[in-house]
Amino acid sequence: MARFSDAWLSELYAKNDIVDVVSGYTTLSERGGRYWGLCPFHNEKTPSFSVSKDKQLYYCFGCKQGGNVAHFIMKTENVLFGEAIEMLARRAHMEMPHAMEDKDYSEIKKKRQQIAEMNKMAARFYFDTLHTPKGAQALAYLKKRGIEENIIKRFGLGYAPDEWDNVLNRLRQKGFPQSLIKESGLVQVTNNNTYDAFRNRVMFPIINTFGDVIAFGGRVLDDTTPKYLNTKETMLFNKRRNLYGLDLVRKMRSIKSVVIVEGYMDVVSLQAHGVRAVVASLGTALTKEQAMLIKRYAHDVFLAYDGDEAGEIATMKAIDVLSAEGHSVKVIRFDDGMDPDDFIRKNGLGEFAKKVKNAVPAIGYKLDMKKRSFDLQTEDGREGYAIAATKIIAAIESPIIKERYMQRLAKETGYSQNSIQGQIQNKDAPKNTNDNYRYNSIKKSDKDNAEDAFLAYALANVHFVENVIDDISADDFSLKSHGNIFSVLYDGIKRGIQPTYAELLSELEYEEDRNEAARLSDMQVIADDPEAYLKDCISNMRKRKLEKKRQSLMEGLRDASSENKRKLLAEIGEIDKELNHIEGIG
Ligand code: CTP
Ligand code: MN
Repeated sequence: MARFSDAWLSELYAKNDIVDVVSGYTTLSERGGRYWGLCPFHNEKTPSFSVSKDKQLYYCFGCKQGGNVAHFIMKTENVLFGEAIEMLARRAHMEMPHAMEDKDYSEIKKKRQQIAEMNKMAARFYFDTLHTPKGAQALAYLKKRGIEENIIKRFGLGYAPDEWDNVLNRLRQKGFPQSLIKESGLVQVTNNNTYDAFRNRVMFPIINTFGDVIAFGGRVLDDTTPKYLNTKETMLFNKRRNLYGLDLVRKMRSIKSVVIVEGYMDVVSLQAHGVRAVVASLGTALTKEQAMLIKRYAHDVFLAYDGDEAGEIATMKAIDVLSAEGHSVKVIRFDDGMDPDDFIRKNGLGEFAKKVKNAVPAIGYKLDMKKRSFDLQTEDGREGYAIAATKIIAAIESPIIKERYMQRLAKETGYSQNSIQGQIQNKDAPKNTNDNYRYNSIKKSDKDNAEDAFLAYALANVHFVENVIDDISADDFSLKSHGNIFSVLYDGIKRGIQPTYAELLSELEYEEDRNEAARLSDMQVIADDPEAYLKDCISNMRKRKLEKKRQSLMEGLRDASSENKRKLLAEIGEIDKELNHIEGIG
C-alpha cells in the first residue's frame, strides 16, 4: 500500500480538508463540534453522516461506514485508492510523486506493457488461425453454437492450434526475453520444458477497459476436461479485478443495468442475441472488486446464473457482495440444467427480455431459498422459517419495502404482522435509534468493551501508547479487525511516527477494518491516568480471553475420558492461577 511516502501523504491530507471535500457532495452543518449531513452512501431523511474536522474522518451512523478523505473519494467516485489519491493531488495542485516512484515500480510497468504486447500478438495469431484450414473445426464449432462472424470479430475469438511451440517461437522471434515469455502465461514450463499453454482450444481474449488483452480463456472443442483453461495470474492479470465483457460495456452509452452471468459463452451468446451490457466473472465467485467495477457503469444489476445448485449458491453469495457495494440486485432464474446461453438460443431475445422484466428482487430470492429448507406444513417449520426470514427482512432499509415483505411473511406463515415486526425490532434490527447518533462514551474499561476502549483511547492518544505497546500484541484481540488496526498502529509507532487518524486509516487495507476504526474514532474516552487506563484495558482483554478458554475447557470436561479429564483440570488450574494473578495486579 505504501506507494507514497509518509511525508507526501501527510501533506496531501493537510491540503485536502475533509470538510471542504465532503461539502462538494453533501451539505454539511455544524452541530456539537462536528459536521452533519445526509449520507451520500445510503438513502435517509435525517442526517446520520458525520464529519470530524479535527480527526479528518467521516463516519455514518446509519450505514456504519467510515474512513478518511481518500476513502470518501473512493466510495463516491468509485475509484481505487491510488486513483483517489491522484484526484486529491490534482485538487490540491500537488505533483504526483514521480520522483519517489521507485525503480521496481517502473520496471513492473514496463514488463506489464511487454506482456500486453505479447498477448496482443497471440490474440491476433489465434484469430487468424481460426480462419485458416487448421481452424476449420473450431470455426464450425462456433457456428454450430450460433456464433457468427460479426460476434467473432467483436470478441476477437480465435483458435489455438494443436501444436506445442507455435506461439512460443513467434514470441522468441519478436525478441521478447525468455524470462518474460515465461511470465506471460502464454507458455507453460514443466521440468525445464517450455511449450504453448493453449493447444487445440477456442480462445476467448480477456480485455480490460483500457483495451489491453490481459489474459485468455480457452475452451476444448469436445467434452474433454478441463473444459476451460485460463491464463494464470500474471503481472497484468488479476482475475479478481476484471470482468469478461467489461471492455464492451465501457464503450456503450446510456446503460441502465448490467446482466451478470457465469460463463464466457453466456456473455458471447447473450450479446449475439442483442442483450447489451453483460459481463462474467473469471472462473471465480464474484468479488467485491468486481462489484465496485460494475458500479462505474450501472447500479442496477441482474444476476443470471446457471439453473443448477451451484448457480443458486453462487447467486446467494453474489447478492451479498453486490448489495454491500450499494447495487440494486434482481435475480433471473432458469430451469434446471439451463444456462443463459441455452435459454436464449432456445427461446430468443423476447423471452429473455421477459425474464429480465420479471426478475425477482434479491430479498425475495433470499426468502425463497430460505423457505426451501423448512416444511411449512408443520408448526415447527413455519416458526423456523419465520425467525430465519425476519433476519433477512430486518436488513431492508426502506420501511415501505420492509412492510411489503412482512406482509408476505405473515401470509406464508400465519403469524401476525405485529409479531413479525416485534421479532424484527427485538434483536434483528440494526440499531437505528437516535441514541446511536450520539457519541458513544466509555468511562471505564470493563471486560466486555476492553478492546473498544483500548483502541478508541489509543487512537486518540497515540503518544501514550508507546509505554504499553510491548505489553500487547495483535493476537490479544478477539476481533480480527481490532488486531489489524492495532498492527497498523504498532507499525507506525515502531517507524517512529505518531500517525494521525487519516494516515492510520490509509494503511488499513480492508474496508471493514477502516469502518471499524472510524467507529472507534467516534468514541469519547475519558481517563485520568492514561497509562494505567491502557494497562487496565489490556488486563481486561486478557481476562476475557482466559475466561473464554476456561469455558471451552469446562465444556470439554463433560465428555472427556478420565485421563483427559485430569489434563483438562490441570489446564483449568493454570488458567485460574493466571486469572488470580491478573486480578491481583489489575
Ligand atoms: N470455468 C473455468 N474452468 C473450468 C470450468 C469453468 O474457468 N474448468 C469458468 C469459465 O470462465 C466458464 C465459467 O466458469 O465460462 C462457467 O462455466 P460453464 O458454465 O461450465 O461454462 P460456459 O461458459 O457455460 O461454457 P459452455 O457453454 O461452452 O459449456
Ligand atoms: Mn454454457
